[in-house]
Amino acid sequence: MEKIVSLCKRRGFINQSSEMYGGFAGVYDYGHLGVELMNNIKGCWWKEMVQLRDNIVGLDSGIFTQAKVWDASGHTSAGFSDLLQECKKCHKRFRADKISGDKQAAKCPECGGELTKPKAFNLLVKTQFGPVGDETGVTYLRGETAQGIYINYENVKNSMRLKIPFGIAQIGKAFRNEITFGHFIFRTREFQQMEHQFFINPKEADKWFDYWRKERMRWYIDLGIKKENLRFREHKEDELAHYARKAVDIEYKFPFGWKELEGIHNRGDWDLSRHAKFSGHDLSYYDEEKKQKYIPYVIETSAGADRTLLVVLLDAYEEIEGGRTTTTKSTKEKEVILRLDKNLAPIKVAVLPLVKKEPLVKLARDIYKKLQKYWMSQYDEIGSIGRRYRRQDEIGTPYCLTVDFDSLDDKKATVRDRDTMAQDRIAIKELVNHLKEKLE
Ligand code: GAP
Repeated sequence: MEKIVSLCKRRGFINQSSEMYGGFAGVYDYGHLGVELMNNIKGCWWKEMVQLRDNIVGLDSGIFTQAKVWDASGHTSAGFSDLLQECKKCHKRFRADKISGDKQAAKCPECGGELTKPKAFNLLVKTQFGPVGDETGVTYLRGETAQGIYINYENVKNSMRLKIPFGIAQIGKAFRNEITFGHFIFRTREFQQMEHQFFINPKEADKWFDYWRKERMRWYIDLGIKKENLRFREHKEDELAHYARKAVDIEYKFPFGWKELEGIHNRGDWDLSRHAKFSGHDLSYYDEEKKQKYIPYVIETSAGADRTLLVVLLDAYEEIEGGRTTTTKSTKEKEVILRLDKNLAPIKVAVLPLVKKEPLVKLARDIYKKLQKYWMSQYDEIGSIGRRYRRQDEIGTPYCLTVDFDSLDDKKATVRDRDTMAQDRIAIKELVNHLKEKLE
């Protein structure tokens, strides 16, 4: 983890927020490479969940949400206002009275970690519109993106003429009054979720639950995450969230243990029934084919985008002591390679003139300008060519392109592969097509 945190800071992926003022616990800022990586992760999820499916549509709902929405969803009550103790190690929370009676427990009943003092707290982040101190202005930053989907369910279904089964997907920020943090961006107060609610006939709940748990696991494997670092974990009856009838986590083997990466939940008709009751709108569905009326059940897939980003970095990180090539002195140092999937790499191609001399610099810059139109690219002329390759390997750039003095005569450039280090001479006028093939 320290290596990833240090790489993120050194290369401008992620920094502690408000660092110049001593830092702000539980909040992180993403720099250029971090934003690119995050956008690519979100883009892959959107393609998989929305673009490639006929019955799932997108949404971007408000972050500020009326207080009533959270009363209906159960987030303002439902166990969140109890006196809770949280384990500083495994982050599980326990009702103080449940684990210790009148006394105060010091150790986590599950992992033996140290417990925080009992505190009454709600997970939602409260804020205020209007005059200060006027309770009517109280509102909440959303604690999950899912509620934005439920309150738009009827509008989306009608405007998009959707028939069950169908899904609504959303990516966006969520905010939680977490009392303990740690492990970098694993658990923060402000984070991004990639959530999808699939509305179904209640009789088909088990079938769709099973379908989505498999689909979601496949997605991580397709992203290049090593199979042996992923597993399912079924929730026991007594650990289910207040809205869930059944839940399974996709867990990743983090350096600090197996932890949740994504939750797949059968939320039953909890949310739609509650919103129907609290708003007075009838949210029942009439199934024309089966001539049945019901409140749809929901199978939810809920992934953390920041957590996925951390997993992607951890899984792709590789150190090679002594370096991969041993031909020159400078390459005998330890090398870091981020073996990121090409779709996720923040920079797809780097253009490097062999030496910082004309006319090589002009030729390299011309090529760079051309490639920029297609891919996020970088131009680098500083330092030895070996060092520049390693700077790109460290941030996961799949291809480096070098022009040398031969390029002036044969009009070819060298394309170097990050993983195999194979070098191909490619005609400059064919570069775009060549890279298109490689990157698709
Ligand atoms: N809508 C259901 C829901 O929000 P959750 O298990 O509380 O379920 C889903 O959260 C995912 O969101 C988690 O698997 C995790 O990836 C991410 N997540 C939750 N809390 C987080 C936090 N404090 N910091 C970073 N990611 C978090």
